[in-house]
Amino acid sequence: MRVKESGFVYSVRLERDRVPSFDAYPFSIPAIRSLDELELDPKITFFIGDNGAGKSTLVEAIAVCVGFNAEGGTRNFNFATRRSESRLVDYLRVARGPRRERRGYFLRAESYFNVATEIERLDADPSAGPRVIDGFGGVPLHEQSHGESFLALAKNKLAGEGLFILDEPEAALSPQRQLAMLAVLHAAISDGAQFIIATHSPILMAYPGALLYQVDATGLHPIAYEDTQHFQITRDFLTNRDSFLKHLLSRDEPEARPPARSRSRSRRRGPEG
Ligand SMILES: Nc1ncnc2c1ncn2[C@@H]1O[C@H](COP(=O)(O)OP(=O)(O)OP(=O)(O)O)[C@@H](O)[C@H]1O
Ligand SMILES: [Mg+2]
Repeated sequence: MRVKESGFVYSVRLERDRVPSFDAYPFSIPAIRSLDELELDPKITFFIGDNGAGKSTLVEAIAVCVGFNAEGGTRNFNFATRRSESRLVDYLRVARGPRRERRGYFLRAESYFNVATEIERLDADPSAGPRVIDGFGGVPLHEQSHGESFLALAKNKLAGEGLFILDEPEAALSPQRQLAMLAVLHAAISDGAQFIIATHSPILMAYPGALLYQVDATGLHPIAYEDTQHFQITRDFLTNRDSFLKHLLSRDEPEARPPARSRSRSRRRGPEG
């Protein structure tokens, strides 16, 4: 299999001069307030950062900007259970390359069950053509465990020359299935897929060569895997579990802080490193 070199979406740009005010949501979020042109990796870009940093806001706006329903699903899904997408999409422009994706999926942990319900609603009408659920592995998603159905969806939908935007795909997955998810990502990328992913998973963000953006109070910055808090806190907790617990549980306000380390490795790691 030959890996395609160019992605479908090169970059996203905030049309800053059109933004009415940077004092109101979503433009007031630091990551959005400082957003200008953001380069995307042709294969896989991760947005990582603390809760509330603005990852979902950004990822959802990118997804809607490239034609997905804000609630998630394929481009054929067009249902709404709530209007949650911010106006950010109205001020965002994506730079597309010459390649056109053959398929796509916007996977949101938050509205995943709404997608499952929508599939059942669509399939309730037998005259409507082939069953939608057959494209998801055949077993109704509500009749599988959260993680089982999530991985079934991933294996069936995140494949081939597609543009895939995922918000916390690890939410339902055990560590073992997160490893399986890495294999799903790799198979799709080998077939020419492009992924844009918001995640907290130190397993998923370890994908070799990925472009990682740290989303925080100072904006969006490329970061090396080993410099992420997700990697450092997980590593330090697992290697010093007793002292971490002793420290945390002896304080009134438990707050995990990773030891300050500065490692200056390249943000892009090849398969060798
Ligand atoms: N509809 C809204 N109106 C006002 N503020 C909002 C709205 N939706 C989200 N926010 C705020 O915007 C900020 C960014 O939220 P967002 O959901 O993008 O964070 P996140 O990085 O995805 O967090 P998490 O890791 O918890 O999923 C948060 O402070 C949140 O409270
Ligand atoms: Mg989020």
